[in-house]
Amino acid sequence: MPLPTRINLGAFALIGAIVILIGGAFAWAAGWIGPRRISGGDVIEALEYNGGGQQPGYRRAHAKGLCFTGSFSANGDGSALSSARVFKPGRYPVVGRFSVAGGNPFASDGRNIFHSMALAIKTADGQEWRLAMDHTPIFPIADIASFVALQRASKPDPKTGKPSPAVMKPFLAAHPEVKAFQNYMAKAVLPGSFATATYYSINAFRFTDAQNVTRFVRWQFEPEATGPGLDKKHLDQLPRDHLFNEMIARTAKAPSRWHLRLVVANPQDVTDKATIAWTGPHRNLDAGTLTIDAVGPEETGACRDLNFDPTILPAGIAVSDDPLLAARSKAYSSSFTRRAGEGPRASAVGQHSNGGNAR
Ligand code: HEM
Repeated sequence: MPLPTRINLGAFALIGAIVILIGGAFAWAAGWIGPRRISGGDVIEALEYNGGGQQPGYRRAHAKGLCFTGSFSANGDGSALSSARVFKPGRYPVVGRFSVAGGNPFASDGRNIFHSMALAIKTADGQEWRLAMDHTPIFPIADIASFVALQRASKPDPKTGKPSPAVMKPFLAAHPEVKAFQNYMAKAVLPGSFATATYYSINAFRFTDAQNVTRFVRWQFEPEATGPGLDKKHLDQLPRDHLFNEMIARTAKAPSRWHLRLVVANPQDVTDKATIAWTGPHRNLDAGTLTIDAVGPEETGACRDLNFDPTILPAGIAVSDDPLLAARSKAYSSSFTRRAGEGPRASAVGQHSNGGNAR
């Protein structure tokens, strides 16, 4: 057997180094080495801790919801920003869900908390766009570690029903970015109906047009219906299912409509922090109309078994550099896997509480 020459010794060393590098990269990606990363399961445990325990079979966030169906009619103008089929003139079927934030499906609607809308829009080319939006243009935190810390810090004290100031104060001192959201919630109108709320993407996305030009975009669904906001001083006097019952009654009479406004980032806009609003004039356009003409409980609607993961996007739209998007995808997937495995439950809207705290 010939002795190894200097050249093939060098080749062996190179191959060895490559194997170690690939192995290391794999171990890092799998989370076996390096600083411990926050998993989707960690996020779900923090949400359950905040909510005072599990509600098996329900979503771990936005647990209280109502399914709906309708359509999105694109007027063609959105094609100026994205080559996605959904922006070409046409009418596309929509399945969606209204919800209020929090892990308790029996919670009262009278809370100063997110009112939300999720959508799944399908086009004939087999592409799908899933959207999960809140009624605020910004989010309290910008990264997943802060989200977990917020869930832990804001757990309501059973005696007062509010977060303990002793826990919340140090959290807020370490997270000054939350202030912008607190200021917004203190001043903003809390929509009096799901039909009169504007729903925001909050996170930025990358839109690529047919000429391959990419721009950062945030979007919002603006309602045609108007109406007064909830009386924030007397939220505790609202019937438990006020918002959901109002939407059921409203839809029995007439459909509700929203316009999809696409807002293009200015060069100085921050795209990787959901805590920072894009202020001042922006290029924007109305890409079409969302019409919701039927609502129904989760057990008979098509929304219960859907995961409205905001990273499920059609060609022509991609995630941005906002780290919340990947974090949301992991958390929604963990929530979905758990609730599907537990056996889905009937809609809590209109049902008696199972003993959970109604806040
Ligand atoms: C790190 C930040 C976030 C985390 C960890 C998180 C976590 C979750 C989880 C676990 C669910 C339940 C998913 C399921 O079981 O299907 C959920 C639902 C939802 N989230 Fe988030 N979320 C985050 C940020 C946001 C933001 C920024 C928005 C709004 C733009 C949002 C809007 C919604 C909506 C509307 C739903 C309900 C979707 C449905 O009806 O199925 N979330 N979230």
